[in-house]
Amino acid sequence: MGIETIKRRRSVRTFDGSVVPRETLDLITKFMQAVDNPFGVPVHFALLDADADRLSSPVVVGAKTYIAAKVERQERAEEAFGYSFEKVILYVTSLGLGSVWLAATLDRRAFETAMDLKPGEIMPAASPLGYAADKMSLREKAMRRGMRSDDRAPFDELFFVGDFGHPLSSEDAGAWRVPLEMVRVAPSATNRQPWRVVVQNDAVHFYECKARGYEKSSTGDIQKVDLGIAACHFETALEEVGVKGGFIQADPRIAAPDNCGYVFSYTRKD
Ligand SMILES: Cc1cc2nc3c(=O)[nH]c(=O)nc-3n(C[C@H](O)[C@H](O)[C@H](O)COP(=O)(O)O)c2cc1C
Repeated sequence: MGIETIKRRRSVRTFDGSVVPRETLDLITKFMQAVDNPFGVPVHFALLDADADRLSSPVVVGAKTYIAAKVERQERAEEAFGYSFEKVILYVTSLGLGSVWLAATLDRRAFETAMDLKPGEIMPAASPLGYAADKMSLREKAMRRGMRSDDRAPFDELFFVGDFGHPLSSEDAGAWRVPLEMVRVAPSATNRQPWRVVVQNDAVHFYECKARGYEKSSTGDIQKVDLGIAACHFETALEEVGVKGGFIQADPRIAAPDNCGYVFSYTRKD
């Protein structure tokens, strides 16, 4: 469940309609109960039955099971949610299962009822769980085309060295190259790729380049969830290449573009 899994993951919205075996669901439940994140905010997961809980999504076909999660409203809730949920997504990908992050196109009321969401909690997203069908629905194909889901912005438009005035090329990124490449391929809401990164020697500073419409009091800031997903991919890759360190709050106070805000940093300790 590392770099290979990150590269293999893609959103799956068209499922073959089969039921995921009990033993597989038990493995996933165990993983969900133990999954952790570096933001110190617990995320509570559940596997839900699509029929029993009357769950649906206008973009999903043939899914019998959903993964959902909720978190208490607080600082770092969205980053924690993104990190932990993506760990689960990578785990189910490693088991050969398909999934897709759903923050907008789901019957939110039905999911929130099934999750027994309390006033102090948010459920930013959920995902179907199942085996991908051989062919994507026409709607899924059209969605992928519309969002250019197979494309990502170039490395040197997302990542910088020293400050935002100096783009970082993949060739010059050294030990950060593969982990940043894994950030680049991460999923994000509407494929907006809001992550920007400034590398300063042993520190890597993450910024959120905000677009309008992704932050609501009912769901939290979905682009901060994207930042949590980026942190998950970044750290998963670093663990595999043997770099040690951790996430901290240490705003370097670099001048950032208007719509970009500092979120967290990773510092190397070896
Ligand atoms: C936080 C988040 C929310 C998303 N919400 C939706 C959604 O509501 N509906 C949907 O069809 N896809 C949703 N997606 C999936 C993205 O559209 C998808 O990740 C992106 O287009 C890139 O495609 P890929 O995942 O196949 O690499 C979401 C992704 C993320 C990370």
